[in-house]
Amino acid sequence: MQPAVIAPSILSADFAKLGEEVDRVLAAGADWVHFDVMDNHYVPNLTIGPMVCEALRRHGVTAPIDVHLMVEPVDRLVPDFARAGASLVSFHPEASRHVHRTIQLIRGEGCQAGLVLNPATPLDVLDHVLEDLDLVLLMSVNPGFGGQAFIPSTLDKLRRVRERIDASGKPIRLEIDGGVKPDNIGAIAAAGADTFVAGSAIFGQPDYAAVIARMRDAIAG
Ligand code: DX5
Ligand code: ZN
Repeated sequence: MQPAVIAPSILSADFAKLGEEVDRVLAAGADWVHFDVMDNHYVPNLTIGPMVCEALRRHGVTAPIDVHLMVEPVDRLVPDFARAGASLVSFHPEASRHVHRTIQLIRGEGCQAGLVLNPATPLDVLDHVLEDLDLVLLMSVNPGFGGQAFIPSTLDKLRRVRERIDASGKPIRLEIDGGVKPDNIGAIAAAGADTFVAGSAIFGQPDYAAVIARMRDAIAG
């Protein structure tokens, strides 16, 4: 398994001072910036686009930016995000007519590619593409909003994806997104996740470093 990555979701940050918030959370020990893009079409919410990603790069953010696209269709936005400085681009298979083509497009633009599985999306979407992916992102809530409760059946799904990744022998990351907190992250790590998105659990507390430290302790078991 690869070293644990903590990727705070800026969906729960204070957008009026986003650059400062990202600086603070990275200084507090975060590894990546999780960047939730919602289009009021694939999901019932509307957030931020490539301009904001580019603004964070211009602000001086050098950490990986982990773009989670909850948009439909996906392909047209991929080059825009690559130009804006995205490091990883993940998308939902339901939002792409040609999943393999979208993966190739993301990698062709020089980004790492991730596929996102909703709570009710079966694992067989991974069947013919797993080895082409850099990351599998399991949603542990239905996409669209921060602050929802972790869906417990995701733990079993994590174990099953972990087995498939290990069997592939490839360094594919297994990311979890939704309802991740210091008190459940240990069980989530034990089930096989190595990359942890947390929005409200981090940005909802005054001391980001303290939450991240608690999370790292729980991951280490
Ligand atoms: C939900 C987003 C998540 C969200 C997580 O659709 O993909 O990244 O911000 O927020 P919390 O950690 O509050 O569940
Ligand atoms: Zn997300």
